[in-house]
Amino acid sequence: MKFFIDSADISEIKDAVAMGMCDGVTTNPSLVAKTGRTFDAVIADILEIVSGPVSLEVTTTAYDDMMALGRELAKHADNVVVKLPLTPDGLKAARTCYDEGIATNVTLCFSPSQALLSAKAGATYISPFVGRLDDIATSGMGLIQDMRTIFDNYDFETQILVASVRHPQHVVEAALAGADVATIPFKVIGQLAKHPLTDIGLAKFMADWEKVPS
Ligand code: E4P
Repeated sequence: MKFFIDSADISEIKDAVAMGMCDGVTTNPSLVAKTGRTFDAVIADILEIVSGPVSLEVTTTAYDDMMALGRELAKHADNVVVKLPLTPDGLKAARTCYDEGIATNVTLCFSPSQALLSAKAGATYISPFVGRLDDIATSGMGLIQDMRTIFDNYDFETQILVASVRHPQHVVEAALAGADVATIPFKVIGQLAKHPLTDIGLAKFMADWEKVPS
């Protein structure tokens, strides 16, 4: 499973790259707003340090506007993935992008029916939001399992990009369900590495090392 970093924070992305945990990056308007920087400054920095797919979200909702913006975004670099909302206009834009050879990430997916439409539209990635489903007492991972079955039944090439990841168990369950990608907040990468027995074992090794005569 590929790891994308779900962040617009350059220092987080740099750290993830240094750890070998950054196969790509996803951003959204909320993540960009959190940085307090302009969109252009943020994407220039990300594209300088990340060679894998970088999702940049359109900030319009009508088909013509999304296509105009999407084409502009795609011009920034070959690894740009245009992120489109899961609406009828968004699906239409995904199909046009497919025809024009522009990679897409259809976002805000909450049901197997929406996922099926995205795959048929020719999306490169589809982003089911597991955390937001869990928030409303609906199984986010159940959606991933259903999508895997549907996509495998028909050999759809659209990649399942698990989004709205909130904790390490989401990542483990996404991998068990056969997701292609998980986009992960940087904090969760640290949590995934953590184990109390590692900390206890390391402390003991360090303490015992002090007893070794020099
Ligand atoms: C990524 O592409 C999504 O926009 C992101 O994972 C959403 O996460 P959230 O539900 O924690 O805002």
